[in-house]
Amino acid sequence: MKIHRYEKIWLTLSFGVILIFMLIIGVQAFAFEHAPPSHKEIIDPQKVDVTAPFDNPGVFQTGENEYEVVMTLQAFGFTPHEVEVPAGAKVTFTLTSKDVIHGFQIAQTNVNAMVVPGHIQKVTQTFSKPGEYLVLCNEYCGIGHEMMAMTITVK
Ligand code: CUA
Repeated sequence: MKIHRYEKIWLTLSFGVILIFMLIIGVQAFAFEHAPPSHKEIIDPQKVDVTAPFDNPGVFQTGENEYEVVMTLQAFGFTPHEVEVPAGAKVTFTLTSKDVIHGFQIAQTNVNAMVVPGHIQKVTQTFSKPGEYLVLCNEYCGIGHEMMAMTITVK
């Protein structure tokens, strides 16, 4: 059987592309097994209150213009439930849940994180505009879900 020259080239190219895709998928599967894309820090959800840093929730200055907000989520609230940070500062939220899955969504920003019991979730946000930012739980967590909210004041 005689294969046209162009056909040969295209066949080689398409097999090459398939091989490259398979290679990429293989490398990703291998890499993610060793370095997960999200935080894999774990915590005993029964012992959140006695495990650092969650034994002392609050706002901490960690650098010249950097802050860390250590926060626990539980049915149906956030601890602390009011937070104040300066405008323009890099704010890292270190979050965990004491019971079920909760959400951490900051209105007017792209922050939208799932907070799973047993895991430590970290999200970073710089609030450039001063104001009051509403934080909502966006994972249905029970009868009080609708009331689960807090405020971040940016000054
Ligand atoms: Cu917490 Cu919904």
